[in-house]
Amino acid sequence: MASTPMWKIPGFTAVLIMGLTTLVVAEEERTRKAMLAIGSEEFQESCAACHGADASGRGELANKILKPPKDLTRGKCRPPCDSRLPKTG
Ligand code: HEC
Repeated sequence: MASTPMWKIPGFTAVLIMGLTTLVVAEEERTRKAMLAIGSEEFQESCAACHGADASGRGELANKILKPPKDLTRGKCRPPCDSRLPKTG
């Protein structure tokens, strides 16, 4: 049989593209989860005291400051508190 390059075999190319797509999608999901974990940790460390661990605006300092923070989970506050924020669960 004459040697046909592997990439010229339709099935081979299709499987290769599907495999690569799966790898890229899995990597994006892994990155997204890692970024959310970093952001979540940062929020707990730097923001939760006022905004509350669940971002509801009921942190332990919320009543001790002049103006309590709003509920960040309702999407009714000024940017960056808007639909660009990723949903965490
Ligand atoms: C010392 C308390 C305190 C800390 C710590 C704090 N915030 Fe706030 N934050 C507030 C208050 C109070 C407001 C409301 C300010 C206003 O309405 O003028 C606010 C407003 C906001 C808003 C705008 C919401 C709106 O009503 O439009 C966002 C978004 C926000 N904070 C995010 C964060 C993030 C992210 C962090 C951590 C990196 C953080 N805050 C840390 C007290 C705090």
